[in-house]
Amino acid sequence: MTLTFAPDTDDVFPLILIEKGDDAAIDLLPDHAAAWATANGFKGALGEVLVVPGQDGTIAMALAGNGDQAARARKRFGFAAARTKLPSGTYRLEHNLSPKDLEETALGWLLEGYRFDRYASQSTPQAQLVAPEGLDAQRLEAIAAGEALTRDLINTPTEDMGPDHLEDAIRTLADGHGASVDVVKDEALLDANFPMIHAVGRAASRAPRLIDLRWGSAGPTLTLVGKGVCFDTGGLNLKPGASMGLMKKDMGGAATVLGLAQMIMALDLPLRLRVLIPAVENAVAGNAFRPGDILTSRKGLTVEVNNTDAEGRLVLADALALADEETPDLMISMATLTGAARVAVGPDLSPFYATADGDADALRKGARQAADPVWELPFWAPYEAMIEPGIADLDNAPKGGFAGSITAALFLKRFVTDTPRYVHFDIYGWNPTAAPARPKGGVGMGARALLEALPEMLDL
Ligand code: BES
Ligand code: ZN
Ligand code: ZN
Repeated sequence: MTLTFAPDTDDVFPLILIEKGDDAAIDLLPDHAAAWATANGFKGALGEVLVVPGQDGTIAMALAGNGDQAARARKRFGFAAARTKLPSGTYRLEHNLSPKDLEETALGWLLEGYRFDRYASQSTPQAQLVAPEGLDAQRLEAIAAGEALTRDLINTPTEDMGPDHLEDAIRTLADGHGASVDVVKDEALLDANFPMIHAVGRAASRAPRLIDLRWGSAGPTLTLVGKGVCFDTGGLNLKPGASMGLMKKDMGGAATVLGLAQMIMALDLPLRLRVLIPAVENAVAGNAFRPGDILTSRKGLTVEVNNTDAEGRLVLADALALADEETPDLMISMATLTGAARVAVGPDLSPFYATADGDADALRKGARQAADPVWELPFWAPYEAMIEPGIADLDNAPKGGFAGSITAALFLKRFVTDTPRYVHFDIYGWNPTAAPARPKGGVGMGARALLEALPEMLDL
């Protein structure tokens, strides 16, 4: 798997990027290449490839289609499909893209190299690209590596990615960047006052835990909290088979904040980072928490469990309360929290909530820059009543399910009362159909938009 650029050598083929229908660009090619393009009907469709042979039958150059504005709007990273179609070799991109478009194009190329090959070898693209001039190649490579970490963590089945394995992965990440890790697990969760993490995770054979990573010694403070439900059966409110099938990905929030943390550390951003991952399996056993139970959270708020399948907000709540105790400058949670978010925006968009308009603006800009689309939903105060059941402070699963992503976000916000700015992402973490640079399977959502937005959000 290669998610890096190739060193520049003499043995490099020109790869000429052509906009759809740009006949002038084809006319500018050497005569034999223009004739070859015409003879083959090359039109510059997005991701289309045409190899132009020289006199001796070796590769003289390759043409790659960049489509038109409409095609690119319909297909993110569409050009990346060219990488897999190109013959083995090293290429240098010839283009007239803006810096932003060039960055997206080059990132797509790198991400097209991702394969999940832990359990079976996969064929990999043989074409390499020399880092295009004017790009921060190292930054793009760090972003691609962070995204690959996220995908690997999500794709790995729960048998090999339980709470214990997730802890190992976090320790490995920390070791690589001089970060520290603290873990509170099992019965110690009760002593340390994380009752809801314990309640959700206690039925599983692998112990629930709260994993706490810290890195950096100067600069503004940023705390990332990721939902680490390594498998979500739904608990006693068991999910039907079809809904349970994909629930290895219910640690997608954890995987995504860990990918982002890796990017932040690799790029040495001048900030102090804390990552909190409540890692549990929502399992079924005699000691499982039950519908109707009322849990007292770390923060002291009581929660009536009206559905054991709304477990993510419970484990996050205790982690958020801990994070809030030291009032970081900015707190961000990421979670595969609700089916309702998927109904609202589908698999592609990352809905987010922000307590400060400035953060939402920065994220929208970052999303465009990083080709990582986000969409703001509101912390809609008039719906607060929907999460108040009467016999406890909070209801984890309001009846009816109206505005299910919003009520979940409002629930989380009750545990963030002192931190000045809070952003929450309700992500999917999964790409259901293969697309260029984004194979079917685990995928990071929102991390690249955040990385791009952080300098503005934290005044770095
Ligand atoms: N992990 C699920 C949410 C989920 C489901 C995300 C499918 C992505 C795809 C979460 O724990 C859950 O089951 N939420 C319930 C909450 C409900 C019971 C209030 C949901 O969304 O149905
Ligand atoms: Zn659930
Ligand atoms: Zn869940």
